[in-house]
Amino acid sequence: MSYDLIVIGTGPGGYVCAIRAAQLGLKTAVVEKRATFGGTCLNIGCIPSKALLHASHLFDEAGHKFAEMGIGVPAPKLDLSTMQAFKQKGVDGNVKGVEFLLKKNKVDSFFGSGSIPSAGKVLVKAEDGSEQVLETKNIVIATGSDVTRLRGVEIDEKRVVSSTGALELDKLPGRLLVIGGGVIGLELGSVWRRLGSEVTVVEFLDRILPGMDSELGRSFERILSKQGMVFKLGSKVTGVDTSGDVLKVSVAPSAGGDAEILEADVVLVAIGRVPYTEGLGLEAAGVQLDQRGRIAVDGHYKSSVDGIYAIGDVIDGPMLAHKAEDEGVAIAELLAGKAGHVNYAVIPNVVYTDPEVASVGRTEEELKENGIDYAIGKFPFTANGRAKANGTTDGFVKILADSKTDEVLGVHIIGPDAGTLIAEAAIAMEFGASSEDIARTCHAHPTLSEAVKEAAFAVEKRAIHM
Ligand code: FAD
Ligand code: NAI
Repeated sequence: MSYDLIVIGTGPGGYVCAIRAAQLGLKTAVVEKRATFGGTCLNIGCIPSKALLHASHLFDEAGHKFAEMGIGVPAPKLDLSTMQAFKQKGVDGNVKGVEFLLKKNKVDSFFGSGSIPSAGKVLVKAEDGSEQVLETKNIVIATGSDVTRLRGVEIDEKRVVSSTGALELDKLPGRLLVIGGGVIGLELGSVWRRLGSEVTVVEFLDRILPGMDSELGRSFERILSKQGMVFKLGSKVTGVDTSGDVLKVSVAPSAGGDAEILEADVVLVAIGRVPYTEGLGLEAAGVQLDQRGRIAVDGHYKSSVDGIYAIGDVIDGPMLAHKAEDEGVAIAELLAGKAGHVNYAVIPNVVYTDPEVASVGRTEEELKENGIDYAIGKFPFTANGRAKANGTTDGFVKILADSKTDEVLGVHIIGPDAGTLIAEAAIAMEFGASSEDIARTCHAHPTLSEAVKEAAFAVEKRAIHM
């Protein structure tokens, strides 16, 4: 059997690419080395983390918010194994959904580790050791990413865990120490704090969520601190002593100096992810990597070898599921002779905490660096009717618009449902909207989305409810 396209990896990049290619008439197969489809995102990433975020949020609300709304319930009791089963049900449902979609679109599936002996060939090595070579016109590598290790800190996925182990804990840790104040640290730190752990976050830089607009980082740190999360900024972990029942973590100032010892029951290492290319045989195939170990591709996802392409976490760009998916669609369309395209200027980024944090487009820092004059429109959720009614007033919407043209250049939100609200901003930016366009669009009342409209009004200092 010879294929038009073989996709290696079935994360959001790979499975979406395969489905789109099959829709466009390409004879397509996927190769996956896990036992299930869906990659990091569905199995050990986006989906299980969101299931635990949802369940732990309700647990927290039942304990702290219900009473003030006049709902009398006994103090909630944690049944962690049932909560983990709830999470797994969500994962299984999603994974089976991908299996169904691949079958429906007549995509052939091969389970095993894929490698590339040469362009046009994919070798699949199954777990039982059996091998087969598949022939294909094109190969898309969508093998994703893996956890970044911290020198001197051995991950055992029991007491010293990566995100994978942190999603699987079978006992509530009394004290959780998180290394890294990025997305994983704050999301999974929030899960365990809500369930009752004392959570300390050690962050190398002097702010959390680097890469996002710095005002979001500062404001979000205050909100999370109020919730009880403890931050040690400008600090690094230099070692974890695992010899006793309690972990002894050495924490020193990033700039150097004496270390202090913090005690913890579980340490979560969340200092970023690295592209995953192990076992693909890329060197022999002549596929070049960039300096950071990512597969180097051109504007059309082609690697240094004709017929071999790459998408998702394994190439440059934000390591996000929706970015991988959009690249999957784009490369499938390009291979089918269409005009596939991803607009990298408009990729939303969401942290699914409470409140949520969401961002699209340029930050203030980026605009300053590039010498672009901008105006700011900001509107707090304390002045939004629906947020007030719901008692969820932490946060704000901030719109950055070009001073001369009024084009929206960036939108940054902390607040209830920020992850959903940011879609409006993304659509507006995709269509080249001005802040005036958003301000003139009728938004339903009472909704949280009115805060976006008011922030657009605020660009010209004419917000109504402030
Ligand atoms: P992956 O999803 O990593 O899939 C790669 C697949 O390739 C895997 O199934 C792997 O087994 C397979 N593979 C690798 N090598 C081979 C080989 N040689 N042969 C065969 N198969 C192979 N992103 C978001 O946008 N939103 C979120 O809420 C979010 N939450 C996250 C939470 C956590 C805890 C983590 C760790 C990540 C999260 N992410 C989130 C990031 C998201 O998971 C990734 O950006 C996304 O999965 C990347 O998709 P991908 O298709 O490039 O690779
Ligand atoms: P991250 O890059 O978001 O954050 C890592 C943090 O660790 C940074 O703040 C960094 O300054 C800090 N750091 C680095 N080295 C350190 C050290 N030695 N000591 C202390 N701090 C250190 O990486 P994270 O949180 O591991 O997530 C990886 C990726 O997974 C994210 O970048 C994102 O692409 C993806 N992801 C996305 C989610 C979402 O979209 N909601 C959720 C979870 C993950």
